[in-house]
Amino acid sequence: MAMITFRINRYNPDDERRGHYVQEYALDVCKGCTVLDALNQIKWEQDGSLTFRRSCRSGICGSCAMTIKGVNRLACETQVLALKSPNVTVEPMRGYPDIKDLVVSLDPLVRGLLAVRPYLITKTPPPSDQERLQSPEERARLDGLYECILCGACTSSCPSFWADKEYIGPHAFLKAYRFVADSRDEGSREHLEALDDKHGLWRCHTIFNCVEACPKDLNPTRAIGELKKELVRQRIG
Ligand code: F3S
Repeated sequence: MAMITFRINRYNPDDERRGHYVQEYALDVCKGCTVLDALNQIKWEQDGSLTFRRSCRSGICGSCAMTIKGVNRLACETQVLALKSPNVTVEPMRGYPDIKDLVVSLDPLVRGLLAVRPYLITKTPPPSDQERLQSPEERARLDGLYECILCGACTSSCPSFWADKEYIGPHAFLKAYRFVADSRDEGSREHLEALDDKHGLWRCHTIFNCVEACPKDLNPTRAIGELKKELVRQRIG
């Protein structure tokens, strides 16, 4: 067990006078305890007004993405003692509009996602007696692309997004490439249409923060490079 002080950014839109402020909570933390376990314990035992998102607590839903000790992480996958510090700061992810305490609006994330048409687009009829099939090699091309849980950690950490709130964002680029790379998809022009724009691919300056921030170890920067090549191919082809 270790006594840890959590310094949590608080904000209540109904209390404009107070604005944003930091509140401290001390907690005895045991081995294996995650930041989400700690936040739950604080909420249940010390301060019921503390507000944060959580759902699966298994690193699958992406709901508990937040900035912990200055880094975007999933609270449910972050062990407190592994942070090796008696003080742990917890803030909402930057770049998104604040709603309350650690909860941000993910509207920019959804806007970017919808812009790339994140679904399989087909134009030819499917084979009459079977589904659209892929070879194992074609299926393997999607590894590293389909696992995104849409937590928003990548886009929140991207300086291009901080500078341009209409920037489509690395989460959406990764999703676009997931379909462009799919052998069954026939809509790469449609997925790329919104990306050939000042708020799209060309605003990425290859800063790589998105790669570092991804809790699933995915690589949006590689997807961005592949999409840029595909756009150029389409332009000259
Ligand atoms: Fe941003 Fe990632 Fe590009 S951090 S600038 S989207 S490489």
